[in-house]
Amino acid sequence: MADKGKKKAPSMRLDKFLAEMGRGTRAQVKDMVRKGRIQINGQVVKTPEVKVNPEEDRVSLDGGIVEYARMEYYMLNKPQGVVSATEDGRHTTVTELIDTALRRDLFPVGRLDIDTEGLLLITNDGELAHSLLSPRNHVDKVYRVRFQGRMPSDGEQRFKEGIVLDDGTKTLPARLKALGGSEAEVTVQEGKFHQVKRMFQALGCQVVYLKRLSVGPLELDENLETGQYRPLSEAEIAALKNCKSASIENEGIG
Ligand code: URA
Repeated sequence: MADKGKKKAPSMRLDKFLAEMGRGTRAQVKDMVRKGRIQINGQVVKTPEVKVNPEEDRVSLDGGIVEYARMEYYMLNKPQGVVSATEDGRHTTVTELIDTALRRDLFPVGRLDIDTEGLLLITNDGELAHSLLSPRNHVDKVYRVRFQGRMPSDGEQRFKEGIVLDDGTKTLPARLKALGGSEAEVTVQEGKFHQVKRMFQALGCQVVYLKRLSVGPLELDENLETGQYRPLSEAEIAALKNCKSASIENEGIG
């Protein structure tokens, strides 16, 4: 059992530890303690106020070890038909697909439409999520697009200038790379509602397939089938945290 004040590593209350790992509310943990269901380093816990060091102490509930993770980061290849939310009455949610997660407070970083596929970061790191999503940080989000309709000849130029959407708002400068036929790669630095679809609509085209390929330095792992996920590597997490704003304008294409 962690002795108060003796250990250098940060410690936390047992009930917070278990609540964060989705094992119950503080009130429920109190009840578990009363029933002798919780042990720390093999000793039955007597009070929920006891402190544990998540890195050193072994916490078990009903004989099973409870692992602790302060932060979790997953890359999901989102399939169509799944919603970018944590709860939904009708559809499966992206966080439900992360079925080996330790924490119960994971959320998707931004939203992909229900019919959009591809890279979605799932984490509980609110600070990182905020920095990746803020339009002020100009983090590139790259999409593969299949569309119907005739792309106007000045389509790339209009993307560079920013496009006025149906509600009168103008997007930040973006990049359109024609891939031939009815395919294109699009880079945007913000996440307005249905942004890519509405940008194409403004040019008289209709998006029929959309897949996100990357967010800043993080690229979708080609080995992930739709619906599959994996934890990010330490290097990927570090790259996302250090990711400097890109500027479409300053690259000489805006
Ligand atoms: N733009 C869209 O229109 N939909 C998405 O899911 C993502 C970007």
